Amino acid sequence: MADRHPLIAGNWKMNLTVDEAVDLAAKIRAGIAERTVGADVVVGPTDLCVEAVSRELKGTIVGVAGQNMHKERSGAYTGEVSGEMLRAAGANWVILGHSERRQYFGETDAGVAAKAVSALAAGLKPILCVGETLEERESGRTLEVVLGQVDGVLAGLPENELAGLTLAYEPVWAIGTGLTASNEQAQEVHGAIRNRLATNLGSAIAEKIRILYGGSVKPDNVAGLLALQDVDGALVGGASLDAESFLSLIPPLPST
Ligand code: PGA
Repeated sequence: MADRHPLIAGNWKMNLTVDEAVDLAAKIRAGIAERTVGADVVVGPTDLCVEAVSRELKGTIVGVAGQNMHKERSGAYTGEVSGEMLRAAGANWVILGHSERRQYFGETDAGVAAKAVSALAAGLKPILCVGETLEERESGRTLEVVLGQVDGVLAGLPENELAGLTLAYEPVWAIGTGLTASNEQAQEVHGAIRNRLATNLGSAIAEKIRILYGGSVKPDNVAGLLALQDVDGALVGGASLDAESFLSLIPPLPST
């Protein structure tokens, strides 16, 4: 993990009513207060719950992320929410380009890049997701696909924002399936992403960008993943919906 401070982010997806989301946030708040925390921590409720969850977590170290946003600030885009609206509701992060967005809602690298520019302008920190399908992995195209997505989602981002970015490598075949990339598979891709960033942006920036791993991260596999050289945290779906399991993913402060 080098010198990068880890980030543990929960993606609640399309789960939990407002009351349920506030209840989970309250449990996380209580759990965080009882332990030393050696990571940045973020939760990603639905848009509908961002405001109430942000209020519940106010004054804690836990940040709040939207799961998606529109690239425009406002306008005639029925059913959509802008970065500015998320920010005003209390979010300070936004997950962009999740594979479910790519798979079911036609999101493209260029679209994700445009949203990322707009997110940064709205004061949100984007978590930019990339990852290959099983078919792409089995046909030996993992690195080609993932590195292509990395190039695509970073295109056009302001240079002064690059070092503060967060990427998430989530193999599509590992999301919600109980299958996790082996430590070797994860490090291979994370290392290749870091090399690509170094080539494109210079090694000083590449060393600062956090690359999270996502895909069936659980209490029993998180430590092995976080110990890898180029894994800087986790983006967690299923295991983030239970306070105990989410809290147990958060590394303690290293003892000095
Ligand atoms: P999962 O989801 O942890 O349930 O596999 C991860 C994600 O989609 O971000």
